[in-house]
Amino acid sequence: MAKVTLTVNGEARTASVSPETTLLRLLREEFGLTGSKLGCDVGDCGACTVMVDGKSVNSCLMLAVQADGRDVVTIEGLATMERLHPLQQLFEDKGSLQCGFCGPGIIISAKALLDENPDPTEEEIRDALAGNLCRCTGYSKMIEAVRAVARAGRDERTAGSVA
Ligand code: FES
Ligand code: FES
Repeated sequence: MAKVTLTVNGEARTASVSPETTLLRLLREEFGLTGSKLGCDVGDCGACTVMVDGKSVNSCLMLAVQADGRDVVTIEGLATMERLHPLQQLFEDKGSLQCGFCGPGIIISAKALLDENPDPTEEEIRDALAGNLCRCTGYSKMIEAVRAVARAGRDERTAGSVA
């Protein structure tokens, strides 16, 4: 067993893990963060997507020991008790998702994109979501929601520069 210490959603967490434990299993089974889903377990579906040091990562492919000392954000880290994250809110408002299985990974991939590139083109959004499979809705409404969040951010930045 190896001891790992990492930051998860802003909190320092420690666990003892076996060498083959994935980050996904550590999050779900040790830390009770079940928002990230186990789909294919081989890096194909994106249901397990989390952010590690600001980048989206398939947590089924990363070993827990590789996450030692890193900063991890899961879907549970986005909303506060008072309000949803703007991406969650817009996905809800626009009816962009039909299930809770692909949704967390898709929203995390969108967040990683917007953190790095606050004003992405449609093509950049499609590229960012390319590793996240949805078998039911199609992607148009998801892309619409991400664009709406980007637009709102742009409007805020413009208002800030005028004020
Ligand atoms: Fe990780 Fe499918 S469960 S990519
Ligand atoms: Fe989840 Fe399509 S909305 S698989």
